[in-house]
Amino acid sequence: MSPPVDLHPGLQGKYSARADIEPASDLIDTEEADPAPRRSPPCTMVIFGGGGDLTRRLLIPAIYNLVGSQLLDEGFSIIAVDWSDLDTETLRSQLGETMRQFVAQRRSSASELHEADWEWLSQRISFLRGGFDDSQTYQTLSSLCGVGNCVFYLAVAARFFAPIVGQLEAAGLTRETESRFRRVVVEKPFGSDLISARALNAQLRNALEESQIYRIDHYLGKETVQNILALRFSNGFFEPLWNRQNIDHVQITAAETVGVEKRGRFYETTGALRDMVPNHIMQLLAMVAMEAPISFDADAVRDEKSKVLAAVHPITANDIVRGQYTAGSIAGRALAGYRDEPDVAPDSQAESFIAMKLSIDNWRWAGVPFYVRTGKRLALRKTEIAIHFKQAPYALFRETPVEKLTPNIMVLQIQPTEGVTMQFSAKMPGPTVKLGGVRMKFDYADWFQEGPSTGYETLIYDCLIGDATLFQRADNVEAGWKVVQPAIEAWKDGGRNAQSKLQFYAAGKAGPDAADALLARDGRHWLRLNG
Ligand code: BG6
Repeated sequence: MSPPVDLHPGLQGKYSARADIEPASDLIDTEEADPAPRRSPPCTMVIFGGGGDLTRRLLIPAIYNLVGSQLLDEGFSIIAVDWSDLDTETLRSQLGETMRQFVAQRRSSASELHEADWEWLSQRISFLRGGFDDSQTYQTLSSLCGVGNCVFYLAVAARFFAPIVGQLEAAGLTRETESRFRRVVVEKPFGSDLISARALNAQLRNALEESQIYRIDHYLGKETVQNILALRFSNGFFEPLWNRQNIDHVQITAAETVGVEKRGRFYETTGALRDMVPNHIMQLLAMVAMEAPISFDADAVRDEKSKVLAAVHPITANDIVRGQYTAGSIAGRALAGYRDEPDVAPDSQAESFIAMKLSIDNWRWAGVPFYVRTGKRLALRKTEIAIHFKQAPYALFRETPVEKLTPNIMVLQIQPTEGVTMQFSAKMPGPTVKLGGVRMKFDYADWFQEGPSTGYETLIYDCLIGDATLFQRADNVEAGWKVVQPAIEAWKDGGRNAQSKLQFYAAGKAGPDAADALLARDGRHWLRLNG
């Protein structure tokens, strides 16, 4: 029995409960289970940045897992394009090395590399040395790709997105016909503010149809994020409660213990707001707050996301707190402050933490605050969405001090714990009516055999089969930026003006005090981060 996280202090540790669960096979009807997913069509995947980190750490392991799941066609192949000094054999052997480490870290279903699967994949990888702005690269690609299906994956710095797409178009590589698709996957960051995101969308749309553009947000590849829609819309008992009549507020937390690591240069101009909020956080918010789509078709889902994101009020300076970590410690390990990290200015104004209060102007959510916090070097790694329900009327419990009623909270745990918990009151055993706070817990791992996943498998497979549901449409991206744009404007002077002054927190804490004050002024408090 694990101790409760946020029960009333008097009840801590005493009345936590774990609902006993049936073996999965009793409830999950395996006979009626869906047929196995189909193999993707034959396709050449051209990865720009094919010699880089993203390819090595995420794309190739994800594709290897797809091989193991038998989801790729015999006609699948990869052309890795990069200007680094590599050749096909060297790249294959380097990737093989990374793959061995990957499985050793148990990020695959097996504990050893499945040699036949790796052989299948590595024989299909080739390297093309070329500059992204060199038309010769695209001429060569034209002859290598031939007339078949292609996915062009832009695993490169954002400044290359538009030039690469322009070159692809000029070489005729983006042209689709009845018998072939041509798709482009765009990584983040998608712009650095509303204006640049709009400009990038316009540049991409000059060369491509919207249906050819797959904007990745890796949060949407997470099983638990996808489960939010399944949970809400495939069960009868959540939706009737999912509105301002019953919900007091919502807390979205994406807390990391890692610091800025080797990404100081990138982070100095990006900061936590741009890095996490318009994309990942807004996707989480949309999943929780959107109306039911008329189907799980890509456009039906994305239409509903767009509507709810458009209803989010652009942030005001009063409702946002920006923080930066100073030296501290996590799990006994002493850690440097942000300003002492590599490639970070000693007087840096970049924020490593954001807390904000958002409101959604629609019939379902008017008056229900959505509090959001995200940051690095926090006490705990935890991504979750906590739905705080309104308190029950007290009349029944006259002898019970009000503060002892356990708040009803439903927590959708995204990572590292994957599941759902519900917190509510129950009668404590004994002759008098006394209430105790209890918790009921659903753990993904208890019910489902976890498939090997980097989070990219679904996204790559969906792109190959042409399902854009889990990718961002242009209007979704712009709506996310619109919400944070006022803060970006207000911080143009480097954030030195009084209202958005940087607040400091020691590494290993839950964020700056001002983040607590943001909720305290509404009579609320954050769920604890350290348990
Ligand atoms: C990335 C950000 O998009 O998401 C990183 O650039 C952040 O700064 C990461 O650490 C968080 O992703 P995850 O999957 O670890 O929660």
